[in-house]
Amino acid sequence: MLALDKVSKRFGGLSVLEDVSFAVPKGCVFGLIGPNGAGKTTVFNLVTGLIAPTGGAITLGGESLIGKKPHRITRLGIARTFQNIRVFKEMTLRENVVVGMHTHLGYGVPQWLFSLPGYRAAERRAAERAEELLSWVGLGGRASDIADNLSYGGQRRLELARALATEPSLLLLDEPVAGMNSGEKDELMAVIGRIVSRGYTVFLIEHDMRFIMGLCERIAVINFGRVIAEGPPDAIRSDPAVIEAYLGREE
Ligand SMILES: Nc1ncnc2c1ncn2[C@@H]1O[C@H](COP(=O)(O)OP(=O)(O)O)[C@@H](O)[C@H]1O
Ligand SMILES: [Mg+2]
Repeated sequence: MLALDKVSKRFGGLSVLEDVSFAVPKGCVFGLIGPNGAGKTTVFNLVTGLIAPTGGAITLGGESLIGKKPHRITRLGIARTFQNIRVFKEMTLRENVVVGMHTHLGYGVPQWLFSLPGYRAAERRAAERAEELLSWVGLGGRASDIADNLSYGGQRRLELARALATEPSLLLLDEPVAGMNSGEKDELMAVIGRIVSRGYTVFLIEHDMRFIMGLCERIAVINFGRVIAEGPPDAIRSDPAVIEAYLGREE
């Protein structure tokens, strides 16, 4: 579904990614791991068009993403969440998700829209879809609550619902369980499992090994901007280069 072929990225004189190649198969949960500063978030920034690669190819279903603006890439079916939490705390859960639909799809809610026939019906449909997505992430029945009143884990699941509001086929999650307690991690693992069973493809960056090994069908490992291993969890777990670069250090 998503393929990177010899992707490189330099920031001035600093080479952050070099010849990065791997493919995320459709319907898969694919993990990207590596030490801090290895270049993981940079991969997401390249895939979503926030920055342009120095070299190489990035394709979605065979179509090149190079040079496309972020909103076009969103429309092609890629959504993401960020490493740092980004919810509108003073808005309701429903509004957070509906706003996600509008902003990601590249149109605002100008005042004149209120006068258009069909506007109210469209807003009602959007609100219904938002409530459905909230129930997918375990926040059903809380659509009218203010986001600030959610627990940390709840806010992260709200971000997931907002990303789903763009109707993506590929979901990129940047450290989704960072800062969560183990109960919240288990809940999110179950939510992601349900999302995948609905046919979405999930590509995630994570440090939590239990989460990664329990959820991902394939894993790529980067260290100093290079892919040092790629394969199913069992192969990754026993790969000497991975143990040296990452797992060993963690333990
Ligand atoms: N916009 C940028 N300008 C300059 N350097 C950057 C930029 N974005 C990331 N970097 C650098 O690239 C390296 C990899 O960063 P990042 O992809 O965020 O790592 P990770 O997500 O694996 O922790 C770091 O050294 C970081 O400082
Ligand atoms: Mg990062």
